[in-house]
Amino acid sequence: MNLPMLAQEHNRSLELPDLMMRVKELEAQHVTFRDSLICAFNQLLDLKDISTGVHSTRLAEWAIRVARKLNIPEDHLYQVEVAALLHDIGKIGVPDAILKKNGPLTSEERALINRHPEYSWSILRLFPGLEQASLYALHHHENIDRTGYPAGLKGQDIPLVSRIVSIIDAYDAMVSNRCYRKGLPHAEAVRRLVHSSHTQFDPEVVQTFIPIAEQEAADVFAAAGTSSAAAL
Ligand SMILES: [Fe+2]
Repeated sequence: MNLPMLAQEHNRSLELPDLMMRVKELEAQHVTFRDSLICAFNQLLDLKDISTGVHSTRLAEWAIRVARKLNIPEDHLYQVEVAALLHDIGKIGVPDAILKKNGPLTSEERALINRHPEYSWSILRLFPGLEQASLYALHHHENIDRTGYPAGLKGQDIPLVSRIVSIIDAYDAMVSNRCYRKGLPHAEAVRRLVHSSHTQFDPEVVQTFIPIAEQEAADVFAAAGTSSAAAL
């Protein structure tokens, strides 16, 4: 809402300081409302049991720490946080019978699951101001050797934030317990991240993330319900 509209809304002429204060109030309300919506979507992921093994806020913290180390500007970190929290929101559009299937997936089922980044994009892009986060979610399953999806982007063509989310998400998936398998030990998860550098993952982002994972390994494994020393 612009200043003339505000004045019209109140049907009285306001002094400039009053108008500026009112604009600030409305901006604060807008941010609060947007943050509440994001929390609500996060809650929805919990209810649908789509959440990550590690608490999602921890994933967002890691993403922000990696982003800072890679010199992503401070005023862009909100987009990073949202992308880390809600990149999988599109899984809501995948039937539970497929999403939670224990056995091997058919090619049709796999194709349906692989649509979830597009679904995430189609949801997040509707949030005013989250267009960038929606693009990061769209590309969080791209691989740097062009074998990922949905666009088959390569290397630096994949947004940096998407490359960050991809690595943190993969680490979380590896160390977390699932009903059909135990989580991997931290060292093995790191070994796999390094092994898949230059093919699936951006090697610079992997090397940036590893010290952060090392620092927090004990807390991570406690949160993920496994042991950092667990045998394979
Ligand atoms: Fe995903």
